[in-house]
Amino acid sequence: MTDTMVSPQLHTSDPSAQRQGLAQFISERTLRLLTKNGALTNDATARGFNQPIFYAWQRDDRLVLVFNPLLLKDPDTVLSPRFRHHLSTVLGGRAVVPTNTRGVFLQIGYWPAPPIDLQARPLNLSAQPDPFCVPIGITVRGPLWLSILKMDSVLVGGSRRMGKTRLLHGWIQSLLHGGQTLLYLWDGKPNCAEFRGYSGRPQTTVIGERDLMAGLTQVTSLMRDRSTLLAAAGVADFHSYNAKSAVKLQPIVLVIDEVTAISLLPDADQILRTIEDLISRGGAFGIYPVLATQRPSATAVRGISKTNLSTRISLPVPSHTDSQIILERVGADKLPKVPGRLAIVWDARLIEAQAFTVDLPQAMEPLPASVAAEPIAGPAVQPAVSDEVRDLAVRCSMDNGGKFTEAWLVSIGQGQKEARRLQAAWADQGWIFQNPRLKRAWCLSPSLRQQLDLAPFAGEPDEPDGRDELDEVGEPPLQA
Ligand SMILES: Nc1ncnc2c1ncn2[C@@H]1O[C@H](COP(=O)(O)OP(=O)(O)OP(=O)(O)O)[C@@H](O)[C@H]1O
Ligand SMILES: [Mg+2]
Repeated sequence: MTDTMVSPQLHTSDPSAQRQGLAQFISERTLRLLTKNGALTNDATARGFNQPIFYAWQRDDRLVLVFNPLLLKDPDTVLSPRFRHHLSTVLGGRAVVPTNTRGVFLQIGYWPAPPIDLQARPLNLSAQPDPFCVPIGITVRGPLWLSILKMDSVLVGGSRRMGKTRLLHGWIQSLLHGGQTLLYLWDGKPNCAEFRGYSGRPQTTVIGERDLMAGLTQVTSLMRDRSTLLAAAGVADFHSYNAKSAVKLQPIVLVIDEVTAISLLPDADQILRTIEDLISRGGAFGIYPVLATQRPSATAVRGISKTNLSTRISLPVPSHTDSQIILERVGADKLPKVPGRLAIVWDARLIEAQAFTVDLPQAMEPLPASVAAEPIAGPAVQPAVSDEVRDLAVRCSMDNGGKFTEAWLVSIGQGQKEARRLQAAWADQGWIFQNPRLKRAWCLSPSLRQQLDLAPFAGEPDEPDGRDELDEVGEPPLQA
């Protein structure tokens, strides 16, 4: 149904007639959604029943729907974020704000909210409100900085090349500027491609690609030392210790970019367990993990995101499922697909921001020309794969026609457990997919084959590269 069909007054220039038409349009769609969702009592839907389910109160800038709670099966359904989101969607993006003091109300804007125009601005470190604040970006209310101590543990998610690592660069540079935080940084890239520019900076440890477990062991032993110290001082946590003691403990921020790459490490299980432990117990000892990931649906990330990560930030993602996993609510799927645009859940509100633009540390070598020349909003660039991955993929293509099956992995000398671990890890990275043309056997993904210049399968369907399609091919095999 179009607006015009609902009400011809919508196209009039008389404002009050226009509001009347919009009120009718909004009321009809709300009623239809309530009926479709089974939110009304049997009385309300009975033929011949003619009591109003809600009154539509026209204000200057919005319509207020005042519900009769006795005709709602459960008033909380109408007030729930899910119902509001659906209603906003069927109303073309109009803001829907609930109130449940002295009644059940929904306030609905007459016109859809205009897209927020947030211009990226360069990061200005001298604007840092305190040494522990990190920049989130520009919001409609101005620049937003948040204390890492309040954010506690953080998950940053979002599609490829949308600006996760840049955001982390901004945080690292701000904490370095503040000068009162110990930093442990792991970027999951060969040769620490992202964070190596910070090595040698005060209080900073850049952890090598293969040394994550060693880095985490260091952080865990600091946690243990602090636990002894706190017990001796008779205090329960880091903040109470610092309030009492003349010598202050510094917060430790552990930044782990590319969480899915962990599954490629031989000690992945142990690493993931240690990270989960640091997330759940670290806060009391002043340890603040910050994790970033491209593929929120990867098994490693799902496990971690189920744990107690307090703050969620998402750059644009393609589907509401991704948004749900990262933010535990929809919203990030609606962000404009602009690098640096993000949504953060803070104080129970979803805030949209445009991250500041950040220069990379000076010691960093420039990116290879092919990557540097990539347009900002252009197609995604595949991160480089390691030699090991390349060798195994080439061998799989030549020996087994690109079928990355458990049987083939076992036949080349991998144990069964290792074969399953490899399959799970490769599926997480999107290097293999379940090929519908080959009885859903795990096969090298077209993107990996293209990247490594390997032969395509004959008559094969196109790349299951979009995230939605990856969801469709199902979970990677369980690790034994
Ligand atoms: N806040 C921003 N403002 C403007 N451009 C940005 C911003 N953040 C990132 N970009 C651009 O997007 C590119 C990719 O950013 P970044 O490497 O941080 O993405 P990513 O999400 O970490 O990617 P990947 O998933 O591949 O790791 C940058 O090289 C930069 O050109
Ligand atoms: Mg990155």
